[in-house]
Amino acid sequence: MIQPGLKGVIATETKISHIDGEQGRLIYRGYEVEELTEQYSFEEVAYLLWFGLLPKKDLANFNEELKSQRTLPSYLKKILDTLPGEMDMMSVLRTVVSAEGSLDYTWKPTIQQSMKLTSMLPTIIAYRNHSLQGTSFVEPRDDLGHVENYLYMLNGVLPTKAQTNALETYMILTMEHGMNASTFSARVTASTESDLISAVTSAIGTMKGPLHGGAPSEVIHLLEEISCTANTEKVLRQKLENREKLMGFGHRVYKTHDPRAVALKNTLLKQIGEDEWLDLALHVEKTAIKLLEKYKPGRGLYTNVEFYAAAIMKAIKMDPSLFTPTFTASRIVGWTAHILEQSQNNTIYRPQSKYIGNFISIK
Ligand code: ACO
Repeated sequence: MIQPGLKGVIATETKISHIDGEQGRLIYRGYEVEELTEQYSFEEVAYLLWFGLLPKKDLANFNEELKSQRTLPSYLKKILDTLPGEMDMMSVLRTVVSAEGSLDYTWKPTIQQSMKLTSMLPTIIAYRNHSLQGTSFVEPRDDLGHVENYLYMLNGVLPTKAQTNALETYMILTMEHGMNASTFSARVTASTESDLISAVTSAIGTMKGPLHGGAPSEVIHLLEEISCTANTEKVLRQKLENREKLMGFGHRVYKTHDPRAVALKNTLLKQIGEDEWLDLALHVEKTAIKLLEKYKPGRGLYTNVEFYAAAIMKAIKMDPSLFTPTFTASRIVGWTAHILEQSQNNTIYRPQSKYIGNFISIK
């Protein structure tokens, strides 16, 4: 039997995460992800995904090692300087990560390799962003946490605690999500006993597609189109009458509230508080759920992670061109955890296809 898109096919066992689409739960290594965001940093959750347990005494050393890998080698800066300005950020990431491949990255993949790449990715994004803006690159600071340093490198000023917390919550919630398309790509490449850089390069190429890494920016367009609470019902109704999809609603796996959207909303309410965009987003969510139940009854359509991701990015004033790259900077942890798991008990991925062409004799 053919399963287009491998929908519903269980291709492997994993101990990294569990998604319960009916109950709206996402679990990393046994822990509810919302609870992790409340108590742990990006670095600690990355440690959990890579090592399988939360860090104890070795956290300080782990953090030091991550910090020491943030600086870009000069040959990567040279490559970044030569890439055309029109090249989109995801293509830049794919190219530069691929160029990082060297003799250090032979089979089997290691946690050290995963840490190095995870540390470097925000620096690549910030370097490229400054060069596009015509501003001077801001070198990483080793007295700042991973997410705080990312915002500092991007903007050249220290972020507020609320901004860091909001982005850190987003980056923890999007670190890992089972066998999504990019993680699957990474595992397929790793299953050939290729190196970690090649597997991550495959994943970035897959993440770039609008059906996957997609665009919280589409949600921004929706909110911009609505622009004020008074317009909400009219704009949403019009879209549903035209059989258009409402961006930021619905999910392939979650048929109830996406736990990541719930956690992001709570963070926004706690960290950002009074905000014009947040008020609009809350109103749009309430109105859309009511209308979706009327126009699409029983489909289980609620806000997904993209909806409140857009609100978070807007609240911290991040440019929409950085949304998918920032998602990549968090998901790289999940990809590398899966690459490591794949390498520990490897079977090459090699499904089959059913031939539906002709059989022609050339005699
Ligand atoms: N707005 C209006 N109707 C919707 C929406 C929506 N956002 N999502 C689903 N529906 C409707 C469909 O029209 C369909 O109706 P029908 O039964 O009358 O044909 C029904 O609900 C089922 O929809 P499918 O597209 O078949 O659901 P699927 O699970 O395949 O798709 C998807 C999930 C792609 C996320 C879809 O809900 C969608 O396109 N949402 C909008 C885009 C979006 O927000 N994407 C981000 C997803 S989160 C992430 O990728 C990290």
